Amino acid sequence: MKLFPETFLWGGAIAANQVEGAWQEDGKGLSTSDVHPQGIFGGIDQRQPASGQLKDIAIDFYHRYPQDIALFAEMGFSCLRLSIAWTRIFPRGDETTPNEAGLAYYDKIFAELEQHGIQPMVTLSHYEMPWALVSEYGGWGNRQLIGFFMNYARVFFTRYREQVKLWLTFNEINMSLHAPVTGIGIASDSSLSNIYQAIHHQLVASGLAVQACHEIIPAAKIGNMLLGGLVYPLTSRPADVWVAMQENHHWLFFGDIQVRGEYPGYMLRYFRENNIRLYITEEDDAALKHSVDFVSFSYYMSGCASADAARHQSCPANILNMIPNPHLTASEWGWQIDPLGLRVLLNLLWDRYHKPLFIVENGLGARDQLTEDHQVIDDYRISYLNDHLQQVREALEDGVNILGYTSWGPIDLVSASKGELSKRYGFIYVDRHDDGSGSLQRYRKKSFGWYQSVIASRGAILK
Ligand code: BG6
Repeated sequence: MKLFPETFLWGGAIAANQVEGAWQEDGKGLSTSDVHPQGIFGGIDQRQPASGQLKDIAIDFYHRYPQDIALFAEMGFSCLRLSIAWTRIFPRGDETTPNEAGLAYYDKIFAELEQHGIQPMVTLSHYEMPWALVSEYGGWGNRQLIGFFMNYARVFFTRYREQVKLWLTFNEINMSLHAPVTGIGIASDSSLSNIYQAIHHQLVASGLAVQACHEIIPAAKIGNMLLGGLVYPLTSRPADVWVAMQENHHWLFFGDIQVRGEYPGYMLRYFRENNIRLYITEEDDAALKHSVDFVSFSYYMSGCASADAARHQSCPANILNMIPNPHLTASEWGWQIDPLGLRVLLNLLWDRYHKPLFIVENGLGARDQLTEDHQVIDDYRISYLNDHLQQVREALEDGVNILGYTSWGPIDLVSASKGELSKRYGFIYVDRHDDGSGSLQRYRKKSFGWYQSVIASRGAILK
C-alpha cells in the first residue's frame, strides 16, 4: 500500500467567525457574520447586532486556543488552516491604521502554532467582512472595497511575513452566486449585472493580493479557494451532459480567472446573452493576470443536473440545489456522500490547471452523542473520512500534485449554513448546544485517535 508523501501537509480548517466568539472584544468591529447569525443565507435587512446569538461566544476559541492548538498538535497536525476576522484589524474596514489589539491576538495564535510545529495557512476572508463596508459603502458592489481589502491584506502580509508562508484569498469565492450577502455584501435580489460586477471587484482584489503577497513575502505561496461543487449529468443524454458542463462552468470560471488570468469565452457569451455589462478597466485586466500559486478547494458532495426542467426539482437541504444522485446516500443535511467524486474532482482540476492542489475542507456534519462517560463513538465520521482519503491517495497515484489535506472543523464549531452547533464535524467534541447551554469543555471523540493514526502512519491504516 502506498504511503502519502512525507511532505504532505495534514491538519484541519477553521474560520474565525465560527470558532472565536469574543465578538466585541479588544476593539473588534461588527461583521456581516455578526448581523447574520442564522447562517450565510441570512437576509441583508437584519441590521441589529447578534447579541445573545451562538456566534457571540461560538466555541470560545479566542480564549481557549492554547488548549485547542495543543489538541491539534496531539493529533499530529502539520498544518492548521484558519481565517482572520477582518473586523479585529479594521473594525469598520475603511480605517488606515490597524487595531493593534486585534493584531496582538493573532501574534499569540501564530506563536502558539509555531511552538507546536504547526504551519498556519491563512484565509484572508472567510465569510465575513466589516458590516460598515456593507451598510455604508454597498459591499463589493463598490470599487472602493478593493482598496480597503488591499490595505488589510498588506498589513497582514507585512506583519506576518516570517510566520505565515501559506495564504488563501477568498473562501469559496464562487459561493457569492448563491449567498451574495455573505460573499460580496450585496442583497440577494440584486440584478445579475450588480452581482457579477461585485464578483469582478473581488476577483481583482484577489489578483492584487497575489501580487502583493509575492512582493512582500517572496517565499510564500498564495492560493485561491473554490467550493468544489462537482455536477454530474443525471443521465447520459447529451443534453444532460451539456447542462452539467454549464453548471460546472458556473463555479469553474472563478478558478479559470484566478489561474489563467482572464474571463473564459463561455462566460463572455453568458454575459452577452444575459445582458450583463461589466465595467472593467485596463488596470483590472492587469490585476487578474496575477495567477495563484496553487488551487485549493472544499469538497463535501456532488450532485446532478438535467436538461429536463421538470426533473430539476430543488434539493432544499443541499446548499447548491443540485439534483440528488440516485446512486448515492446523503448526510442528514442532504449532502450527497461521494468519495469517488473527490478523485474525479482532483483529476479534473489538475488536468485543467496544472497547479498544485490543496484540499482545504472535507468532512461530515453529524449529530454526535456524548455518552455519560464523555465518549463519542463517531464511526460514521471515520468511515466518511477514510473513504475520501482513500480517493486522495488514488489521485496521488494518478499523478495529481496534492500539497495537503485539512479536514473541515477538526473541533466542533458553529455551522456556516445553519448557524447551529448540532451539526458537528470535529474530532474534538465541544460541550455547547444550539440553545447556548453547555460547559464548553472539550472531549476527544473516537475519530480523534483514528485521525492521529492516519497521520502518524501516513495513511497506512486507511482501509
Ligand atoms: C464551507 C465553508 O462551505 O462548508 C465553511 O467554507 C462551512 O465555513 C463548511 O462551515 C461546512 O458547512 P456547514 O454549513 O455545514 O457549516
